[in-house]
Amino acid sequence: MNQNQDQWKTRIGFMLAAMGSAVGLGNIWRFPYVTGELGGATFLMVYLAFVFLIGIPLLLNEFSIGKAGQKDAVGSFKNLAPNTKWHWTGFMGVVGGILILSFYSVVAGWSLFYLYKYITGAYWTEPDAGFGAVFGEWIANPLYPLLWQALFLGLTLFIVIRGIKGGIEKANVILMPGLALLMIFMAGYVLTLDGAVEGLKFLFQPDWSQLSNPKLYLTALGQAFFSLSIGVSGMLTYASYLKSKDRLPAAAIGVGVMDTIFAVIAGIMIFPAVFSFGLEVGSGPPLVFITLPTIFASMPMGNIVGVVFFVLLAMAALSSAVSLLELPVSFFKRTVGMSRKAATYLCTIIIFVLGIASSLGFGIWSGVTFGDQNILGMIDYVTANFVIPFGALLMAFFVGWYLDKSQARKNSEIQSSAMFNIWYVIIKYIVPIILILIVVANLFNMTV
Ligand code: PHE
Ligand code: NA
Repeated sequence: MNQNQDQWKTRIGFMLAAMGSAVGLGNIWRFPYVTGELGGATFLMVYLAFVFLIGIPLLLNEFSIGKAGQKDAVGSFKNLAPNTKWHWTGFMGVVGGILILSFYSVVAGWSLFYLYKYITGAYWTEPDAGFGAVFGEWIANPLYPLLWQALFLGLTLFIVIRGIKGGIEKANVILMPGLALLMIFMAGYVLTLDGAVEGLKFLFQPDWSQLSNPKLYLTALGQAFFSLSIGVSGMLTYASYLKSKDRLPAAAIGVGVMDTIFAVIAGIMIFPAVFSFGLEVGSGPPLVFITLPTIFASMPMGNIVGVVFFVLLAMAALSSAVSLLELPVSFFKRTVGMSRKAATYLCTIIIFVLGIASSLGFGIWSGVTFGDQNILGMIDYVTANFVIPFGALLMAFFVGWYLDKSQARKNSEIQSSAMFNIWYVIIKYIVPIILILIVVANLFNMTV
């Protein structure tokens, strides 16, 4: 079979697809909800520090493994480290990717449902019970959210089955700037509301006493990595479809900066509104699904803005979901040897079935809880805060301690020796130290 069947068409195609993977519900749904739960500005500062100090270097690390490995999550490690157990890192990523997409598709289904409600006009004005109550009732329904989740996964399947050059790349050229502009516009509106300043204070005025809370670090780390799509080998898989020199460092920085801009804009759009409308910052996963319609209902022409926003949000979620599905599909195709078509159907079905549990956890299975988390909250917590950081740690060990330094250097495509040395110290020492410290601190804190 033609080896080049799965290759990015253009150099920029890879960059756009990687940005598409990064920017998604992680920025617009997850970032506000965890920031709200962890108290705002202090969390944001730690999150930003993690993104720039270790997140972007780890993104480059993951790119470098995929590019050099030239195969899927498991196969790339087998290529670079034959007859070792390193490929279990990739296997863990495949499982992690499946778990993430199982709940990601639930939330994406909610977004599609909102889009539908804006197209039909049903959500143009606030219902008497309030958006929060109406949404709470809808997600508790045992059937409807599942249909929207299935629709979303169907769209994801439709793209992935056609292969990676079938168009994942192109949509992002319009999507990214469109979404950024619309969110800046919405943030601008929200800032004119009474009480908006409270929201800005919440987001930008740190309370340093919170730095003694170990959970804040774990959650910030998990959010930074989740948002950058690292740790589960999704970015590794995308980079494996590269052949020639592609300036990986520039791609990692571009993706990291872009992703972070989206998260910060989402914060500036959501928190002032939360405070101004008297909503609950600690609402958890439903936070933005209560806040956004409240913004649109109060906004001149909010109905039209709402339609456009949910179109863009659904597309951003889709380009991330495509990368999450491509990860296991690539494994079943290239390491297990299935056809792309069979692999795509198989993975989609597994993901949908698992996702049913996350969805029902808001309704008939709401009694299934772990601490104060329902099923979605638990899978989200475990994947973002443990599976992803552990995967990223193993990849740092792999490049920092298993590969030769010269090989690491070549794979990283970093030109300057000084820059390479900084990056190498981060991957070899700083990442392991920070990640291990955070996990240990949280283990000690568990009993509280
Ligand atoms: N980074 C994506 C987002 O923010 C989610 C994602 C995580 C995608 C891990 C791929 C791998 O929405
Ligand atoms: Na993201």
